[in-house]
Amino acid sequence: MLNSKIISFAKFTPETIISNDELSKIVDTSDEWITSRTGISKRCILKEGNTSLMATNVAKKLIEKANISPEDINLIIIATITPDYLTPSTACIVQGEIGATNAISFDISAACSGFVYALSTAQKFLQTGLYKNALVIGAETLSKITDWTDRTTCVLFGDGAGGVLLQATKTENSFIAEDLKADGSNWQAITGGKVSLKNPFVENEQENFYLQMNGRDVFNFATKTVPKSIKEVIKKANVTLDDIKYIVPHQANSRIVEVVAKKLNVDFDKFYLNLKNFGNTSSASIPIALAEMQENNLLKKGDKIIITGFGGGLTWGTLLITI
Ligand code: UT7
Repeated sequence: MLNSKIISFAKFTPETIISNDELSKIVDTSDEWITSRTGISKRCILKEGNTSLMATNVAKKLIEKANISPEDINLIIIATITPDYLTPSTACIVQGEIGATNAISFDISAACSGFVYALSTAQKFLQTGLYKNALVIGAETLSKITDWTDRTTCVLFGDGAGGVLLQATKTENSFIAEDLKADGSNWQAITGGKVSLKNPFVENEQENFYLQMNGRDVFNFATKTVPKSIKEVIKKANVTLDDIKYIVPHQANSRIVEVVAKKLNVDFDKFYLNLKNFGNTSSASIPIALAEMQENNLLKKGDKIIITGFGGGLTWGTLLITI
């Protein structure tokens, strides 16, 4: 079985930035409420194009940084809950846009755990030796499934994309341990983009298309499962939390991270957070954070990093990786 190494990181965030104050002109909210309850100050909103545009931008950067050509890519996985279409997959659109003629391409729907699920999936494909270079991208245009009249959700989300290029190797390995889980019995806690039954033979009322979330339930779910999942990978890898340079959580709410840090008895500073600037970008949040960390020279060779996603499904997943 072959190893996989992360070769490059990239991100794309839309130019338009919407502050909390701007949101308070649309719904009954305030900068004070949003900042104190979530840690979010602003978010990027896509005004042109769609999810595939952001993912394509990331894909091109990843290929350029890795100094390979699009034909060298054999696998494209896009984690998204906000694809351009139900079909084709966003991954196929990206494949066409970048000319990755030798790639198989598909999307993964695992909400805010999407990037972690996608990275784990790509690693399994590369292990077989049948695929050499994989683009793994989280890309979301949450603004198009957000109810902009619902203050309990619209203040939380943002648009963006990020990803990594994975390469099969016989030597260095970026993957140390993983813990992926799902609990479909609680699927109602977060829903969005409902595609209702519709045909000439039934009468149906229009159902709610927008993101709906029981915030309290999700908060409790996250603060319960994330510490457990982190402990699980630490145990599997036979290391301690002291050996971990950074924990990069899904960027949902800084209060969730505070509770997780307390439960793990870990310094809050070990967690890399950028949700202040981007809000919750679902599957894009972890790869955007990783790309930002790399841009800021925070990722050093040999560092052990934990990435941990949680959200709709309900799903959660943690990977212990090394750069
Ligand atoms: O990526 C998927 C994962 N999702 C998450 O991680 C979300 C997890 N949940 C959370 O982050 C938090 O539950 C929220 C940030 C969504 C909400 O925070 P909360 O402390 O649980 O607030 P709450 O829902 O209990 O609401 C408290 C009050 C309510 O008013 P009353 O009933 O006490 O009068 C809400 O109506 O705050 C009100 N409220 C707002 N007020 C101003 C809710 N949203 C807003 C708002 N601005 N945007």
